[in-house]
Amino acid sequence: MILVKLRLKRKSVLIDLKNEDKGYEKAAKFYDVFDTKKNIDYFLKFARDCKRVLDIGAGTGRIAIPLAKKGLTICCIEPSAAMREEFQKKMNNYPELENKITIIPADAKSFSLNEKFEGAFLSGTFDHILTNKERKSVLTNIYQHLTKNGQITFDIFIGEMKSSPISLIDKIKKDNREYHRFIGREKLSDGTINVKLIYKVYENEELIETVIQHSIAKEVTREEVHQILHKTGFQIIQEFGSFTMNPYSPEDEILIVLAQKRGNERKKYPWKKGQA
Ligand SMILES: C[S@@+](CC[C@H](N)C(=O)[O-])C[C@H]1O[C@@H](n2cnc3c(N)ncnc32)[C@H](O)[C@@H]1O
Repeated sequence: MILVKLRLKRKSVLIDLKNEDKGYEKAAKFYDVFDTKKNIDYFLKFARDCKRVLDIGAGTGRIAIPLAKKGLTICCIEPSAAMREEFQKKMNNYPELENKITIIPADAKSFSLNEKFEGAFLSGTFDHILTNKERKSVLTNIYQHLTKNGQITFDIFIGEMKSSPISLIDKIKKDNREYHRFIGREKLSDGTINVKLIYKVYENEELIETVIQHSIAKEVTREEVHQILHKTGFQIIQEFGSFTMNPYSPEDEILIVLAQKRGNERKKYPWKKGQA
């Protein structure tokens, strides 16, 4: 474990950093190439009324940067050095957002900040938390960083928790390059999902780069998520089956949970349409 002391707006926080590849080190540079931006509005609606919001597993700042452009103040937790590097490169183009975004090199279960937030969100991150014990630690840690009526929202790709042969899922043309992304999943008997991603880059129809990235996710059921939220002091406010906020139904590929610290006054929901 590498301990790093970080100075954050005149406060010091101690964070732990492990330089291991959890599935993003080789492929971080391709992450935004395939961005469809389809969930940004949802997180903007969630965070809009928060003075400060936590983006946990913030990646390349794909969501944090558009939120900061709307005036929000975001604290980003991101353990992957490669993802943070992509994030920082983008931030260099937006010096005006420097006081809106803080990037903390840390893990969801052990980050420790001397301040509280009105909201926390995890986009594409919860699937990487592999055991119920770890999920409990993550939610407990987030709970401790939320204000009294603080809310949390996160997505789980429930429909992707199965084996699938490697296949081409995206093709994107950018400048004189074409980027292909392949994905395959192998589900083990204990619910572990070994994910293999292959990126191929073509220039003038010639293959110039191939990158293979492995990552791991773990199956979690909706019932387990309910139990862990309950045990860690949250109450569920709503569950969606899409980022357009349709109520969740069991055929949905994605489960998006919105929860709040239990026993406190309910913050307003639904968010007024069209204010994003
Ligand atoms: C699918 S990416 C999503 C990135 C970003 N939230 C977005 O929506 O564009 C998942 C991110 O979660 C991060 N992550 C994985 N395990 C994590 C953990 N234990 N704590 C915090 N972040 C984690 C990864 O490094 C990666 O950046």
